[in-house]
Amino acid sequence: MKYYITTPIFYPNSSPHIGTAYTTVAADALARYHRLLGDNVYFLTGTDENAQKIVRTAEAHHTAPEIYVDGVVERFKKLWQALDISNDDFIRTTEERHRKVVQQIFTKLYEQGDIYKSEYSGWYCTPCETFWLENKLLEGKCPNSDCGRDVELLKEESYFFRLSRYQAALLKHIEEHPEFIQPISRRNEMLRFIEGGLEDLCVSRTTFQWGIKVPFDPKHVVYVWLDALINYISALGYPEEENYKRYWPADVHIMGKDIVRFHAVIWPIILLALDIPLPKVIYGHGWYLTKEGGKISKSRGNVQDSFELIQRYGSDAIRYFLLHEMQVGSDGTYSEDNVVERINSDLANDLGNFISRSLAMVVKYRKGIVPRPGQDGVLEQELKELSHEIKNIVEKKFEAFDLAGALEEIWRFVARCNKYVDETAPWSLAKQEDQHERLDTVLYTFVECIRVMAILTAPFMPGLPPRICALLGKDERLIRWQEADQWGILEPGTQVHKGEPLFPRIDISQYVTTEETKIVDQDQTQDQTQAQAQNETSEPVPALEFEPIKEEISIDEFAKLDLRVAKILSAEKVAKTDKLMKLEVEVAGAVRTVVSGIAKHYAPEDLVNQYVVLVANLKPTKLRGITSQGMILAASQGDVLEVLMVNKDLPGGARVK
Ligand code: MSP
Repeated sequence: MKYYITTPIFYPNSSPHIGTAYTTVAADALARYHRLLGDNVYFLTGTDENAQKIVRTAEAHHTAPEIYVDGVVERFKKLWQALDISNDDFIRTTEERHRKVVQQIFTKLYEQGDIYKSEYSGWYCTPCETFWLENKLLEGKCPNSDCGRDVELLKEESYFFRLSRYQAALLKHIEEHPEFIQPISRRNEMLRFIEGGLEDLCVSRTTFQWGIKVPFDPKHVVYVWLDALINYISALGYPEEENYKRYWPADVHIMGKDIVRFHAVIWPIILLALDIPLPKVIYGHGWYLTKEGGKISKSRGNVQDSFELIQRYGSDAIRYFLLHEMQVGSDGTYSEDNVVERINSDLANDLGNFISRSLAMVVKYRKGIVPRPGQDGVLEQELKELSHEIKNIVEKKFEAFDLAGALEEIWRFVARCNKYVDETAPWSLAKQEDQHERLDTVLYTFVECIRVMAILTAPFMPGLPPRICALLGKDERLIRWQEADQWGILEPGTQVHKGEPLFPRIDISQYVTTEETKIVDQDQTQDQTQAQAQNETSEPVPALEFEPIKEEISIDEFAKLDLRVAKILSAEKVAKTDKLMKLEVEVAGAVRTVVSGIAKHYAPEDLVNQYVVLVANLKPTKLRGITSQGMILAASQGDVLEVLMVNKDLPGGARVK
């Protein structure tokens, strides 16, 4: 199967930032996934250079546009390299191969009457490179909700493209192909927009000369959007070359929501007019905004150097963050402390910790030689079934372009694997003579879980599989998508290594606000108290330091604690904190509110209907303005935390003693 995927081509008027990188990272994850499936993938990105804003920026830098863009284009190429972007081609619209095709198409459309000459009288927004009629302006400014900047009055001879001629055909196509514009919210927006009536589009300019000349009337340059959209076929060598025949139509054009309109209206109409097939999907994702909800932009001074970020945290971590935080249909929030938090919780704690912990045990108990497993038990069966279920869901999520959803699923597997370590407790199996075969099964399963994780995460974090393969003493042939739910692949006898931690923890204290630090500290004290009430439940990883056991208390003192089973009725994260979860629990026929510092470790839906242990006679306390009536028990060591749950059929209110 062929798979042709594109990003928008970027304006090289300023260096790329972390927000702009999202589109390309998302497209790369999709391209890598399809390559793993065995598809014949072609992945295109590039730069959109013939814009008026390029002329303006170059002027401001006292340089010629062609010199200015060369410098910025290099930055784009370097950034994509630093982010491990696996594009097959990079098109610049100043290249000859592109110019030729644009001129050919413009002439054809003119000759068949789809383009005609007239006069444009109206407004132009240079930052958006968009024409606006007077009645569309908002208080005299650009009506684009992300823009609102000044517009300029234009009155010039122009060529026009008869969009109106294709309005009905376009609507028919959208209606007959529900998958054409995704997600559905964007499709609805576009349907409303087109049904409102399409005006013919001005497609040439005469007031500057930078751009592709109209071949039969060279005082005109082609309007930048008409020029830019054509990159998707000029790069393939339209109309004659092999790549065009092999890869067109595109399987998906990925882009930010702000430019869906151009792709869902102008582009299909160009293609309809040329009588060539339309792309299969146009997918519009949300934007990365700052914590305050504003745009990331140079003029607002909130752009962080992307290269510095990658150097500080690594390409895999930045990719993971970007892909994880952008939910389908909404915007994502970018802040460096969120990046650190994701690294510490998801990458260092959940994924990295499982891998180093389990490999450390293979090294400790079997000298690093993968043992031959015995019979599977119930837990191994459960893991295998889960891997099957998760692989299927992840495939569906990829088909729906829901990359954050795919990561959530993969982390469900990671969480289950961590739980498996605690459930099987290899450190106690190792102490029992008759449990050695069981220990072999558990250790073998660990290594297989690591292999599965390497496969599932490969499209998202391409730097990870080679590092995992090296720990498993294998090369990358171990990464085969089809084997993400197959077990027994790694040969017993393989030598594995413990290696360095894959994602070292980052000290978060320098990123959280004072108020937040207070809460973290308070919660940590609670967690520590809870931890001391527990026996050792996890493998004593050498670097761990346990809290000293507190001084003795009498049984009467202990009896003062009233511990009860409580049923969680609802759970929601407390706004503006990363750690706190507000729970409504039912205990002895009454409903209480409890605020608990577990939000980093559980999603609300994982908690609802679970039975937990509540310290029911603790004095109420206020956390973030919410009165918390008690505390739920959790075991924790370092950053690993597990809420104690009661699995037998005991009602909320039952005593725990
Ligand atoms: N040149 C046009 C595209 C022409 S495609 C035929 C363009 N370029 S752009 O450089 O302004 O934007 C490129 C992409 O970056 C768009 O998909 C845009 O939505 C995306 N983003 C720009 N800032 C962004 C964020 N802060 N967050 C996510 N995506 C963002 O438009």
